[in-house]
Amino acid sequence: MEIKHTPVLLNEVISFIDFSKHKVFLDLTVGEGGHSEEILKRARGDSILIGFDLDEEILKIADQRLSKLNKKFYLFNENYKDFYKKLKEINIEGADFMLLDLGFSSFQLENGRGFSFLDEKSLHMGYSKQIRGADYYINKLSKNELAYIFEEYGEIKESEKIAEEIVKYRKNKKIETSKELADIVEKVIKRKGKIHPATKVFQALRIYV
Ligand SMILES: C[S@@+](CC[C@H](N)C(=O)[O-])C[C@H]1O[C@@H](n2cnc3c(N)ncnc32)[C@H](O)[C@@H]1O
Repeated sequence: MEIKHTPVLLNEVISFIDFSKHKVFLDLTVGEGGHSEEILKRARGDSILIGFDLDEEILKIADQRLSKLNKKFYLFNENYKDFYKKLKEINIEGADFMLLDLGFSSFQLENGRGFSFLDEKSLHMGYSKQIRGADYYINKLSKNELAYIFEEYGEIKESEKIAEEIVKYRKNKKIETSKELADIVEKVIKRKGKIHPATKVFQALRIYV
């Protein structure tokens, strides 16, 4: 698979590592493995890298990439909040360097996960396909429950109106894509300037999912 994601601030991240001393590296959001690859390339032969990601597909890409380097690494398809437990399982007591690169990667943005307003394939919005996505909740929850999510996680003034519009729309057709949802929101909040009117709705759903 072609690797598209360019790791952010790669040189800056690398500059924090003292490769003569640091041996145990923790990449809590390994993604496509851009940062991890660069770290392992430069790491001493007796180093070890432990990576975490919720996305089982993206981890396969990281695995292929890191496997070429002939250095020791473990990849866990787990939430990084459980990293301490996982380290214990492999008898590692701590790390010399830890990286947390939050957000989604371009792989996730471009591969029909529903993160983009323009996505006409999906409305999932989750990092892992194993979990219930926004598509489930948008079509299942009541008007009040949806309004609560938009209000609580998006602080949206028009929460009730948006929830009402969603419920009206889905009486005729299931909402299947992010583009469809973005268009429904745009009926309630008119576009002003560059920021898409559905930005906060997407934010709220991503947090909820
Ligand atoms: C910006 S990408 C990381 C890109 C990576 N640094 C690289 O160079 O390819 C962030 C990654 O964090 C993962 N992620 C988000 N929340 C997570 C969590 N709670 N536990 C584990 N991984 C998570 C996402 O699936 C995504 O792959």
